[in-house]
Amino acid sequence: MKFFSGSQSEKLTQKVCKNLNVKLSPMEIFVFGDGEKRIKLNDNVVGQDCVLIKSTGIPTDVNYMELFFIIDALKRSGAKSVTLVIPYLGYSRQDHVFREGEDVSLQVIIKTLETLGTDKIITLDLHSIKIVEFFKVPIVHLSALELFAKAIKDFENYVLVSPDMGGIRRVKILSEFLNNAPFVTIEKDRDLKTADVTMNKLNGEVKGKLAIIVDDILSSGKTLKMAADLLIENKATGVYSFTTHAVLADGAADTLQASQIKKVFVTDTIEIPREKHFPKLEIISVANLITRALRG
Ligand code: R5P
Repeated sequence: MKFFSGSQSEKLTQKVCKNLNVKLSPMEIFVFGDGEKRIKLNDNVVGQDCVLIKSTGIPTDVNYMELFFIIDALKRSGAKSVTLVIPYLGYSRQDHVFREGEDVSLQVIIKTLETLGTDKIITLDLHSIKIVEFFKVPIVHLSALELFAKAIKDFENYVLVSPDMGGIRRVKILSEFLNNAPFVTIEKDRDLKTADVTMNKLNGEVKGKLAIIVDDILSSGKTLKMAADLLIENKATGVYSFTTHAVLADGAADTLQASQIKKVFVTDTIEIPREKHFPKLEIISVANLITRALRG
C-alpha cells in the first residue's frame, strides 16, 4: 500500500504513517505563476492500493482542484485502487437547495470524486448524516466525538450545548458517551443572503453550570462567540467549545481569542497555519481514528 499526502494534511499524514509504520511516498506539487498546479508522483504505483490523505479547508476550491489532480495522477499511473481520506469535506454545508435557483455544490464535488475513479472515502464528522447517502462509492464516516468525550469526562457540573438545532444529533451522541450528560440547545438563524447569524432562544437551563458547546465546523467563529455570550448571559459559570473542523476564516482567531470562551478545542482535520494559532486554541489529533479505519 502506498501513502500520499496533499497540502493541509502533511502533519496528520505523517502521524498516520508513523502509526502504521509505512513510508510516505514523495510527490511534487508545482504551482505556476498563475496559480495552476501540476502534480508529479515520484513513486511507482502500478498495481498498488493507494491512500491519499488530503483536507479541503481554505482555500476550498484550490484544495479540491489539487485533490482532483492527485487522484487523476494516481489513476493514470496505474494505481489499483485509490482510497481518499478527506478529513474535512469542504462544501458539506451546501448539501441541498436552500433557495430556488441555487446549485448543490456538494453534489458536484461528490460526482467529480466518483467520476475520477475514487474507490473508497474516509471522512469525519460530516455536516449532516444524510450526506453519507449521496455517495455511490463506499464511505467510512468517522467522528471526533469519542475524542471529545475523553477530554470532557474530567469536567464537573457541566452541560453540553448544541449551538443550533441541526446539531442535536451530535450533542445527543456525545451525551451518550458521557453517561447521558445533560444538554441544551440554542435556536440559531442564519440569513441566507448575508450569512449573518442571530441566536434567538436557549432551550434548557445552564445557570450555575459549565457550558460545553459542541459543533462540527468553526468558520467565522461567530456561532461559538454568540453562543458563549448567550450562555454567560444565562448565568453559565464558564464556557468551553469543542469543534471538529477548524476552518478558521479570516478574523476567526481574533474573534475567539476575544470571546468569553475559556478554551477552544478543535481537531487537526485541517492543518492550522501558525499565523492562525491563538492562545485559547487546543488541538486534538484524529490520527489514531484514521489509522484504525485504515487498518479496517
Ligand atoms: C452550521 O450549521 C455549522 O454547524 C456551524 O455552526 C457553522 O458552520 C459555524 O460557522 P461560523 O463559525 O461561521 O459561525
